[in-house]
Amino acid sequence: MTSDSGAQHSKEVQEGERFEFGKNWNKFLSVLNDKRIEEAERSLKEMLQVNDLKGRSFLDIGSGSGLFSLVARRLGARVHSFDYDPNSAACAVELRRRYFPDDSDWMIEQGSVLDKDYIKSLGEFDIVYSWGVLHHTGDMWNALDNARIPVRDGGLLFIAIYNDQGMKSDLWVKIKKAYCSGVIGKSAIVAVFIPIFILYGFIIDLIRMNNPIKRYSDYKNKRGMSIFYDWFDWLGGYPFEVASSGEIFDFYFKRGFNLIKLVTTNGLGTNEFVFRK
Ligand SMILES: C[S@@+](CC[C@H](N)C(=O)[O-])C[C@H]1O[C@@H](n2cnc3c(N)ncnc32)[C@H](O)[C@@H]1O
Repeated sequence: MTSDSGAQHSKEVQEGERFEFGKNWNKFLSVLNDKRIEEAERSLKEMLQVNDLKGRSFLDIGSGSGLFSLVARRLGARVHSFDYDPNSAACAVELRRRYFPDDSDWMIEQGSVLDKDYIKSLGEFDIVYSWGVLHHTGDMWNALDNARIPVRDGGLLFIAIYNDQGMKSDLWVKIKKAYCSGVIGKSAIVAVFIPIFILYGFIIDLIRMNNPIKRYSDYKNKRGMSIFYDWFDWLGGYPFEVASSGEIFDFYFKRGFNLIKLVTTNGLGTNEFVFRK
């Protein structure tokens, strides 16, 4: 970890310019269990279309909870994880302590994808994974450009980027900024939106005649995540930028990447892309 980028991160948080992702991920680790890990593993294997990652190198840019680094390591990859938020990097350290103590094939650092010299210093990897990260950097297009640097020729780049929803996305930028502005902003946003999320989900389930409990119990099937901590990640997740799937396709196609797998959304979620260099 460089003390400069750690200090810069704290400054951005204090100035209301950044959500503390790492604190939220730290809480998520208290609900992490084998079922969630297996689900995360299943989702990674499905997107990369592999059964294992033996003999492969895996770079996790913006590792968050560290769950997908853990999964890549379980699948046999040599893993390098980094995250700009020191608390996120600490989450990966905690998962390594729990599941792979004293492992020399899992490196963890604090660092930024926007630091081009740092990215170049990492070398090349078979798989570069950056799920839900590059749109939270504050400089998405530069982050997208830097993320391609460590992909070896023939290697894979797996990213997820928030879908552009026009005015709806613009409104969410304002909500997220208000959340990060301080205690009052955060309390107000939580007080308004958490009941809305609960009520909205309940009404949708009633209309569709679904069991409302399953909305919560089945959520772990989405990459092993927790609906509760995802709500806070969504409400606070700032900086926040968006792109259409076409824009992302064009950006990487011009830079020598072919799209090999795509999962899109029509809503406010992410579009997921696997490219081959
Ligand atoms: C939604 S979370 C990541 C989720 C995780 N990749 C996964 O697959 O579950 C976004 C993460 O990006 C990190 N991040 C934001 N800006 C970054 C930057 N410039 N460089 C590296 N990581 C960054 C945040 O600290 C946060 O941990």
